[in-house]
Amino acid sequence: MNKPATIEFATATAINVSAATPPTQALHDLIPGEARDSLLAIHDVLRRELPQGRLAIYEAGGGSCSVLPPDLPSRSHITVVDIDEDQVRNNTYADVAILGDVQTYRFGQETFDLVICYNVIEHLPDVEAALLNFRDALKRGGMILIGAPNPRSLSGVVTKYSPHWFHVWFYRNIRGIKDAGLPGEPPFPTFFHPLVTLPRLEAFAAANGLEMIYRREVESPRYPEMRRRKPLFAALADAGATVLNAVLPRGTDVRRGDYHVILRKS
Ligand SMILES: C[S@@+](CC[C@H](N)C(=O)[O-])C[C@H]1O[C@@H](n2cnc3c(N)ncnc32)[C@H](O)[C@@H]1O
Repeated sequence: MNKPATIEFATATAINVSAATPPTQALHDLIPGEARDSLLAIHDVLRRELPQGRLAIYEAGGGSCSVLPPDLPSRSHITVVDIDEDQVRNNTYADVAILGDVQTYRFGQETFDLVICYNVIEHLPDVEAALLNFRDALKRGGMILIGAPNPRSLSGVVTKYSPHWFHVWFYRNIRGIKDAGLPGEPPFPTFFHPLVTLPRLEAFAAANGLEMIYRREVESPRYPEMRRRKPLFAALADAGATVLNAVLPRGTDVRRGDYHVILRKS
């Protein structure tokens, strides 16, 4: 399903695109659990709510793989903007791949049916600017899909307050990703702007003409992944989460390390 991409390097020379990664790799890579269930539910929403016929999709911080439903790319024109040259080079599913910053890169008004910003806003110092750019670039009734870590969860607090070298160590030694931290490879440095917090994001969206039509907090996929790969480490994390849940207000589950939302432009 790879598409021949046009690479528009705003600041660099053209680079050949390698052919490899199928467009829905991100979903297939997700271990069964709440995050995967939520993405499948999101696919249903997108199939139901998006117009029939040809679609214009903007993947902001698209990197090199996508969470799009597998049937959408073939009827879509996909534009990716990413700040990392290696990520842009490794992208195989975009029709147009642009080396740029989603906080400042602006498209024409009402260009896209869907903006996807998945696991990106936590890396941005100016989430507000990025969200307003996305809104302006959306057609009326168009949607923004956001996936992000929950800063009020156990994994969110650890990620926010630990140094980047620890994230690289975790990816290499607990997740088993040997290339972690190399150029163009996750983890990417995190910033955690206040708008990454879900209630603030919802309030900002409402104040700026974006209705939240889907909202789900999910157990971070790191838990099922750790339980499978590193049971002892997982038992430790689970025990810590259980203790925290017991002392925090009823109904809190600090394992809900990620959230997914869909915002619709009114
Ligand atoms: C964790 S990866 C997620 C990639 C992809 N969305 C996915 O779900 O697999 C974060 C991506 O955001 C990109 N990124 C970070 N800051 C950015 C910015 N200011 N503008 C554009 N892309 C950015 C990184 O280069 C990286 O590709």
